[in-house]
Amino acid sequence: MRKNIVAGNWKMNNDLAETQTLVTELKMHINSSNCEVMIAPTFTNLWHAFEALRTSKIEVIAQNMHFADNGAYTGEVSASMLKSVGVKTVILGHSERRAYFNETDEMLAKKVDAALKNNMRVIFCFGEELADRKAKNHENIVGSQIKNGLFHLNSAAFKNIVLAYEPVWAIGTGETASPEQAQDMHAFIRKTLAAKYGDEVANEVSILYGGSVKPGNAKEIFSKPDVDGGLIGGAALKADDFFGIVKAF
Ligand code: 13P
Repeated sequence: MRKNIVAGNWKMNNDLAETQTLVTELKMHINSSNCEVMIAPTFTNLWHAFEALRTSKIEVIAQNMHFADNGAYTGEVSASMLKSVGVKTVILGHSERRAYFNETDEMLAKKVDAALKNNMRVIFCFGEELADRKAKNHENIVGSQIKNGLFHLNSAAFKNIVLAYEPVWAIGTGETASPEQAQDMHAFIRKTLAAKYGDEVANEVSILYGGSVKPGNAKEIFSKPDVDGGLIGGAALKADDFFGIVKAF
């Protein structure tokens, strides 16, 4: 049975004091849930969040990492560094990394390999831009992002891969993909996986939706058969909203 997951991507928000406050609120609210719950604070606050949530069900994950183990990469953080503060899961390929930091499919494939080599789980993100959808090219774009980033892996590796479909036009815009648009794309993604790795692998991989998920729309989106949860941006920064989304399961 594939897992249901709600993960909060805090992006470049919350300093240490704000992290302490939000983590304390989340810990009070979320002590049992029908899904896995994760939060991704910024690098500087991972250790604090990990310590504060040691006895909680909430997993602390990272927003990015470099593909090298160590070395002359000023400003970067490696898988082993993340692991040393307790992080076991990393988000890779977010559209903001692709757009603002020029992360290419080739680079992301290397990051995926580095994370898996370090026994970490990957939440691999992808999604089309508005122009792609208008041109009805969204499935091609998403298909090629998945193939280029992941299809060098063997089927066993997919035990540690979670997919996150995040249409760029729905991120931080308040405009959500309709539940039907999300379901159609998630079904396409599962079909793409099945064609390469077979039904068994495809049916076990969790596929999250991300893009303006809120307490008010989460239940309907998550009720779709191929939507296994959400990657949440803005609404993950308020304990009540995040809790409202977790409760949708
Ligand atoms: P919003 O929920 O703010 O649209 O962000 C989604 C996202 O990018 C999560 O990674």
